[in-house]
Amino acid sequence: MIELSQPNLTKLEKNLVLKVLNSNKLVDGYYQDLAEKKIKGIIKAKYVAVTQSCSSALEIAAILLKLKPKDEVLIPSFTFTSTANAVVMRGAKPVFVDIDELTLNVDLVDLEKKITKKTKAIFVVHYGGFCTDMEKLLKIKKKYNLPLVEDAAHGFMAKYKNKYLGTYGDISAFSFHATKNIVGSQCGAIIINNKKYIANADIILDKGTDRKRLINYKDKKNITSFSNKKFYSWKNIGSEYRATELASALLYAQLLRIKSLQFNRSKVWNYYYDQLKKINSREFDLYNVPDTKIEQCFHLFILIFKSEYKAEKLREYLIKNSIYASFHYIPLHISSFSKKISSPIKLEVTEKIFKKIVRIPLHSSLNIRSAKYISDHIKKFFKKI
Ligand SMILES: Cc1ncc(COP(=O)(O)O)c(C=O)c1O
Repeated sequence: MIELSQPNLTKLEKNLVLKVLNSNKLVDGYYQDLAEKKIKGIIKAKYVAVTQSCSSALEIAAILLKLKPKDEVLIPSFTFTSTANAVVMRGAKPVFVDIDELTLNVDLVDLEKKITKKTKAIFVVHYGGFCTDMEKLLKIKKKYNLPLVEDAAHGFMAKYKNKYLGTYGDISAFSFHATKNIVGSQCGAIIINNKKYIANADIILDKGTDRKRLINYKDKKNITSFSNKKFYSWKNIGSEYRATELASALLYAQLLRIKSLQFNRSKVWNYYYDQLKKINSREFDLYNVPDTKIEQCFHLFILIFKSEYKAEKLREYLIKNSIYASFHYIPLHISSFSKKISSPIKLEVTEKIFKKIVRIPLHSSLNIRSAKYISDHIKKFFKKI
């Protein structure tokens, strides 16, 4: 089976992970620091911390925003559970927003309509590593004075107007899960661009303690006595959110190889695009950058069908031929859990589109031979129907 996603690991990743094991230093270490500095250098952010996942980074964001019961947070329904979990875990209410048919990103007209006095934040998702019109979004944010969180799980290395996604929001989250373009096994990062949120971030990342101050404290001899124990006490809620050294070493190795990893993905993406647009069919559209201000990061390749039935048939046909194909995502507002926590709503575009999506394999280990095998099968499918 050709998998939808797969990490691309070399000797470099293995060597750095082995170095960590040989060093006996499994936390707060050298690679955590290097990975954070590398990400900071690439995207030019004020604060970066590597986390256990993008989900953790989103949870930290919700704590930093001090979300509480009865607060409303605008989020797209067309996203993964983590975006909403972060909000719901604070007792706040996710208010689901529809998506735009072209970008599959949040529909800004629907978003603005849903702002009320109870709205405390906007969470957007850069679906597929594309984004909404960020200029319009920032205008809305400013008009209603709302903090913005970017769930950039798919968006590491993507840009809008030559500025990296993840640097627009007050707080942002990246995923470096094994299914993403850059992999730290299960890993992520929180990015803070608004300095008012920085002071509390380390505390939340360190299980609610000021442990970071202890680590940075120079006069280590002087903190052994109880009366001098000024650091490492309980300051706030928090959890074990920091990435381990093993994950950080793996992530750092991938960051060093980022150009070639991204190049491989773009080669396959462009190959698919060139081949599949030759298919003379009105049955589907190829999901592509709708706006020249966006530079995508080749996170995924999808076909959007006009009919649910044909999308289902293509998925079945590809799987029968050992090519993994899937839908992506099942909207949150129609889930069984959502029915327990919020009243039913209708999101026209989200509901119309989600079953018509066919996602095909795209990862940095995929070569053009496999991409040809896949696109040839898609062409054959269209000859048969
Ligand atoms: C939009 C979105 N947000 C968050 C996540 C969670 O990422 P992680 O697995 O790093 O927690 C995902 C997972 O794919 C996602 O698609």
